Amino acid sequence: MTLHGLATRAMRGFDPEDAHRLAIGALKLGLGPLDGPDDPILACPVAGMTLPNPIGLAPGFDKDAEVHGPMLRAGFGFVECGTVTPRPQAGNPRPRLFRLSEDGAVINRMGFNNRGLEAFAGRLAHRRAGLVGANIGANKDSQDRIGDYVVGLRRLWGLASYFTINVSSPNTPGLRALQTRAALEDLLGRLAEARDVLPAEGRVPIFLKVAPDLQSGEVEAIVETCLTGGLSGIMVANTTVSRPALASRFAGEAGGLSGAPLAALAMRVLGEFAEVGAGRLALVGVGGVGTGAEAYARIRAGACAVQLYSALVFEGPGLVGAIKRDLAARLRADGFATLAAAVGAR
Ligand code: FNR
Repeated sequence: MTLHGLATRAMRGFDPEDAHRLAIGALKLGLGPLDGPDDPILACPVAGMTLPNPIGLAPGFDKDAEVHGPMLRAGFGFVECGTVTPRPQAGNPRPRLFRLSEDGAVINRMGFNNRGLEAFAGRLAHRRAGLVGANIGANKDSQDRIGDYVVGLRRLWGLASYFTINVSSPNTPGLRALQTRAALEDLLGRLAEARDVLPAEGRVPIFLKVAPDLQSGEVEAIVETCLTGGLSGIMVANTTVSRPALASRFAGEAGGLSGAPLAALAMRVLGEFAEVGAGRLALVGVGGVGTGAEAYARIRAGACAVQLYSALVFEGPGLVGAIKRDLAARLRADGFATLAAAVGAR
């Protein structure tokens, strides 16, 4: 086992939120792993960006944009920081993060704890090479939640490689109502107005991040609204409030479930977006990705890239290199010359 594998195992002795803080601290000190150059077969286009590989760090790990550099060096093809809200926010009381070891899962009800937009922007301004996305959200006590997204977009314009509009966290009461057609039209309309008067050279792709717990008909409404609103793609998906059969004693905790038990649901919802989107929007597969086989399945189901977070809790950052090697081998074994050729190739 590698040093980082041992460290990951040792972290499991700590309260999960303390372990996360220790991991961020170690990464800031330069103690993260270093991955070599990527296999060229893994390079892939996503909404006009070129990713060196399709494995991204999902938001929630680096909420305050502190460790995007070390995580890119650990081998991620892109890193999404946030969710950031305009004003700093403490989030929900602890405990609010639970490791469900028997299930390979996590439940969190963090509630957008973050140090706010100014601190986030300051750190993004110092980023070096590599693709770093900004995931923006709204303060819990905001009087104008849509206005919060506009503030985030304006403040981070020119600093992020792409934006993600997070309307799918289950831990800010009422936030997911922004996924309904009328609210989403309003949100994307106001963002489009703001974007149209910002300097054109700052233009980057904008994605929407959706919940996996959607009602029938919502997928169609979301796809249409995103296309009308000029969005580039959709991150499918956030954590689920549903509870598939779980073995851990923390199964009854309130919050969003992520990790292995989310995989089947996230895959199904991705398939629905792929069918309705029909190639008109870039899709990123998120939720329960922890192996090369799972990443490959999402890509063949229509995702042009994937993201992960929970699997890192159990496997450590060395996982990224293993997934990439396995994915490259699978592409070659099936005769694909490029990753893009496998996207949607059921
Ligand atoms: C998250 N996730 C998340 N997503 C988001 O858009 N903004 C956020 O702030 C957070 N915060 C967060 C905290 C914690 C502790 C976890 C575990 C997750 C959701 C995350 O980005 C991802 O969509 C899900 O976790 C599903 O992917 P995994 O974890 O199964 O790979």
